[in-house]
Amino acid sequence: MCGIVGYLGEKEATPILIEGLERLEYRGYDSAGIAVSVEDEIDVVKKAGKLKVLKEAISENPPAGKVGIGHTRWATHGSPSDLNSHPHSDCTGDFVIVHNGIIENFQQLKDELVDKGHSFRSETDTEVIAHLIEENYQGKLREAVLKVARMLEGSYALAILSKREPGKIIAIRRDSPLIVGIGEDENYIASDIPAFLQYTNQFYILDDEELAEVTRDNISLYDAAGNRIEKDVFVVNWDAEMAEKGGYEHFMLKEIHEEPDAIRRVLSNRVTPGNVDLSEINLSSEEIRNYDKIHIVACGTASYAGIMGKYVIEELVRMPVEVDIASEFRYRQPLIDENSLVIVVSQSGETADTLASLRLAQKKGAKVLAFTNVTGSSIAREADEVLYLQAGPEIAVASTKAYINMVVAFYILALYLAKVRSTVTEDRLYELIEEVLRLPKLATETIEKSLELVKERARVYKLQDNAFFIGRNIDFALSLEGALKLKEISYIHAEAYPAGELKHGPLALIEDGVPVVAIATRLSLYDKMLSNIKEVKARGADVLAITFEGETEVEKSVDHVIYIPRINELFSGALAIIPMHLLAYYTSLERGYDVDQPRNLAKSVTVE
Ligand code: F6R
Repeated sequence: MCGIVGYLGEKEATPILIEGLERLEYRGYDSAGIAVSVEDEIDVVKKAGKLKVLKEAISENPPAGKVGIGHTRWATHGSPSDLNSHPHSDCTGDFVIVHNGIIENFQQLKDELVDKGHSFRSETDTEVIAHLIEENYQGKLREAVLKVARMLEGSYALAILSKREPGKIIAIRRDSPLIVGIGEDENYIASDIPAFLQYTNQFYILDDEELAEVTRDNISLYDAAGNRIEKDVFVVNWDAEMAEKGGYEHFMLKEIHEEPDAIRRVLSNRVTPGNVDLSEINLSSEEIRNYDKIHIVACGTASYAGIMGKYVIEELVRMPVEVDIASEFRYRQPLIDENSLVIVVSQSGETADTLASLRLAQKKGAKVLAFTNVTGSSIAREADEVLYLQAGPEIAVASTKAYINMVVAFYILALYLAKVRSTVTEDRLYELIEEVLRLPKLATETIEKSLELVKERARVYKLQDNAFFIGRNIDFALSLEGALKLKEISYIHAEAYPAGELKHGPLALIEDGVPVVAIATRLSLYDKMLSNIKEVKARGADVLAITFEGETEVEKSVDHVIYIPRINELFSGALAIIPMHLLAYYTSLERGYDVDQPRNLAKSVTVE
């Protein structure tokens, strides 16, 4: 959430900044602005609303200059107004900044600055930083910024322009991502790699408290104490097209269609016929045998993948697994120690609560394994061990292919732990591995076979206000994800329930025509699911079942059935979720909403 871009080079900065901001739109925002400098003047334009409003505002007279910074803001302190949009400046207009994060002690700093005579124009926490730099500038912008950074509590990624030192951008970060792109006679600053991937694939990834002083032809890096440091250049293998829509109407649809390939990538080199190998993560067999508990910690969709992980690990490895929402975990004084393995799951690798949970777990002596999709992200860098999800860039706010790869990563881990702890026989392990290897092909079949019915159902769902998703065991884990996806992009109120729980309350809400998605892939519980389906059907629900090919018994009790290819029922989740991802997508499309950027939501939640 919030996106920062910066450019210094030979070209006009404005179009490059706008383009960079467009590539960061996926992070979610509600206002945008740019500041471009020519010699000792800085031209600032900022507008509430989407980038198209900003583009209209500058269309006749775009700020001219070859150095600039830009920002998309997701409001925290103060409404999404023109005035609160970034960039912000000090009293003199000499220091212009964009900021991502939250300054927790801003009120105290603001009061002190007001006492000293500073006048503020916005309600933001960010503006204090510009005034603090004004107050502390003594001829060297870099030094003033380092000094101010020490006064700030909270998180920040900052890009700063100054009339006093034209041709330069200072970038600094703490707990919010920031990278510096390396070009030829030009350099870039951004919150995330896709912003400038079409210009360069070489980046410096700033660590906490590191500062970059960037000009058109030089990048100097410093630590918090102001000492020069050297860093390795991070080379990215994605090409710019991989981050584009690739011919699909929306990123989300493209990403759903990429699910089979994403699964193939997460499996590759880890699961091969007859073997599962996770030697890339440094967990010795002795450690694995000594763990007495696993804790999975994540937010949103990632936490639902974690619930799936719990069912699969407990069944195959016979080890207790607890799953926590990160914002709860970090404040509940969890009982963990060096005998616990903590797994944090995060597509972006930047989710603030998940990162804080990681740090808490480490403090308590636990080893932390991260599942993340983003190399170089904060979580990837701080975790003890990382299993990369290899889903490729995920741009749509609603997570799809990364969710599936989280689920598959849990399959891989469960198989590996089961192998090391000998909780399944060699023959069974062999069979399970064979099944997992079929997933990519079966995922393609699932998309092909479910598409038409999903589109038809979406035309009915678009008229509904409420929907229910029910299932048992791993099918319950799936219903959580199915309901979240529908509600977040189609704004239909959707609830997930363990099917056996209906009669303890929610059944009261079932009446004529209420859509119920009933997932029935756990064959050992199939008959129980059929009874639950009958309960809702008897009360008038419009039931869409998702089950395996050949399980035709369900047809007698439901209105529609989506059949998924048969696979070992432990691994049905990676297939059964696909029609639910498609259902959410097409329902949102039918309702005419912004599928890739649902209201009020951001892709990367870097604040608590
Ligand atoms: C929903 C969704 C969110 C994220 C959550 C955690 O589709 O994408 O619920 O799963 O914000 O994000 P990450 O995985 O980046 O930590």
